[in-house]
Amino acid sequence: MRTPLIAGNWKMNTDSSTARGLAAAIATRAVEAADVELLVCPPDVYLALVRDTLGNARVGLGAQDMYHETQGAFTGETSGGMLRDIGATYVILGHSERRHILGESDSDVNKKVVAALTAGLKPIVCVGELLEEREAGRTAEVIRTQFEGSLAGISADAMASVVIAYEPVWAIGTGKVATPDQAEEVHADLRKQLAARYNDAVADKVRILYGGSVKPDNAGELLGLPNVDGALIGGASLKADDFLAIALAGTAVAQA
Ligand code: PGA
Repeated sequence: MRTPLIAGNWKMNTDSSTARGLAAAIATRAVEAADVELLVCPPDVYLALVRDTLGNARVGLGAQDMYHETQGAFTGETSGGMLRDIGATYVILGHSERRHILGESDSDVNKKVVAALTAGLKPIVCVGELLEEREAGRTAEVIRTQFEGSLAGISADAMASVVIAYEPVWAIGTGKVATPDQAEEVHADLRKQLAARYNDAVADKVRILYGGSVKPDNAGELLGLPNVDGALIGGASLKADDFLAIALAGTAVAQA
């Protein structure tokens, strides 16, 4: 059984006061969300503050990106080792905003995945098609290319630490959520690719999250799909009540 992962991507939001408040509210009620793994990914500058605020609550800490080098003259960048040092255990890589606003390629994402694993971080590797790609019937091909490119050279053993997130770009921050059929089709295809590239055991173990306008009112249906193993949540993760409601939907599915 794959434990659902409910991950909040705070993006470039919060300040020290609201980050502390959000983390505190989630920490207080985390115990309610049994049988799911909770994760928050604040901006790097608030990682330490959020870590301290979470204390011993059952909520993991993740970053939203990292650089692939370990140290040196890379002004403005943060290494995987630094993220581990400050208490992060996960890192989101290849988010669509990094691919499409910051121009990251599959090969950039791949270098980061390798570096994250070397640093002892669990990468959450994002893939997802643009609206025009979906409309042109190219979704499966785009996802396959991103999957192959972003995970090139990653061994079957290393895949035990990798999480995949399917986030249709047209559903991110738009309020337009993929239908259950659209989500399940891509997730099932990703699972097939894992089996083909590695083996059934890897395919069975790797968690595939859905992301893109996940809200309390659609979470139950999405999380109940056979190949959806959690959610990567942007907007709704900035409201403790919404984030926890989504987590509780995960608990209900896990316990059904
Ligand atoms: P959203 O963002 O929930 O605001 O659509 C999801 C994401 O970008 O991870």
